[in-house]
Amino acid sequence: MTALLEIRGARRRFATPEGGHIAALDGVDLDVGGNEFVTLLGPSGCGKTTLLRAISGFEQLDGGSVRLDGADLGALPPFRRPLNTVFQSYALFGHMTVARNVGYALEVRGVDRATYEREVGQALEKVGLSGMGARKPSQLSGGQRQRVALARAIVAKPRLLLLDEPLSALDRNLRQQMQLELKDLQHRLGIAFVFVTHDQEEALTMSDRVVLMRAGRIEQQGSPRDIYRRPRSRFVAEFIGETNLFSITVERIEGGLAVGRTAQGLALWLPAAGLRPGQSAVAALRPADFTLEDGDIAGQVSRSVYLGSDLHLFVRPNAGGPEIRVTARDRAGAPEVGTPVSLGYDPAAAHVLEEA
Ligand SMILES: Nc1ncnc2c1ncn2[C@@H]1O[C@H](COP(=O)(O)OP(=O)(O)OP(=O)(O)O)[C@@H](O)[C@H]1O
Ligand SMILES: [Mg+2]
Repeated sequence: MTALLEIRGARRRFATPEGGHIAALDGVDLDVGGNEFVTLLGPSGCGKTTLLRAISGFEQLDGGSVRLDGADLGALPPFRRPLNTVFQSYALFGHMTVARNVGYALEVRGVDRATYEREVGQALEKVGLSGMGARKPSQLSGGQRQRVALARAIVAKPRLLLLDEPLSALDRNLRQQMQLELKDLQHRLGIAFVFVTHDQEEALTMSDRVVLMRAGRIEQQGSPRDIYRRPRSRFVAEFIGETNLFSITVERIEGGLAVGRTAQGLALWLPAAGLRPGQSAVAALRPADFTLEDGDIAGQVSRSVYLGSDLHLFVRPNAGGPEIRVTARDRAGAPEVGTPVSLGYDPAAAHVLEEA
């Protein structure tokens, strides 16, 4: 795959009021394909917005390069770049109609009336707002305003759309609906999206590829499944969904499996690949990986959290050590607090972190 967007060695430092420096971008390499939905995910302050602004040209890099279709964007001002940005605050013009908000970029370019009408009509149709062109933004719901901002961003047919937490102002139901709509829109437009969020669920739902950032660097990138099932580090495992981490020492290797033991004496079976006796490692098991019966981790349910169709159980192992989080279906016979359980799991589901 040749990349549409190629970022190499991107660096950006900011002076802090305390007299020091912070590396908002500390050497970022990133490729984005022409029809790819890539999400930048990471905690507050990790550099997501700075990276997006460097792509759009609102921020200059101290080092490195941004290329689109092989051409260096460094010298191009934001408005000359074949891309567009959707911000969290939709920044619509309140005194203009929806149609004029959407068509503003075309108006500035001086396109003829027929083209203008056609393109605005098509953009509104793509976001499901046909017939709303004459309204003012104040006469729309939050979700509809978000769609106007989207229509405005796609009207000039960019190659790449940058979206900085565009859904974070919406309530949960609307946000989930818009997540699916956005993904669908990206598919129909056939252009690349670089989407920023700090919501891991949102990232997993929408993306072809998730790029997890930490302190100005890319910590790990991969498909949602890959990054969820095969986190490299403790940071990734804990940032992406809930997980149980076990610090173990490998005791022995037996028929393709390793037996590890925690400091409390809890034995765990793991895929043996790359492990040798005596080694320290961290193993990750997701709450849904466990069954509550017929396993060899004996314990007792210590807490139960109701989540709707699922229950989240905390199980205190008899051997000691931290509680193990387990997902269970909420149905008759689901164990209550105090019930003894014996947790089982498929050793193949256990994942050993690359970075202990
Ligand atoms: N103009 C600026 N001047 C000084 N420091 C800045 C500036 N812009 C960003 N920073 C700092 O750079 C770091 C990265 O900021 P950035 O806005 O990229 O984070 P983010 O990942 O988008 O965070 P959030 O999820 O909170 O939006 C932060 O420590 C921030 O304080
Ligand atoms: Mg930000």
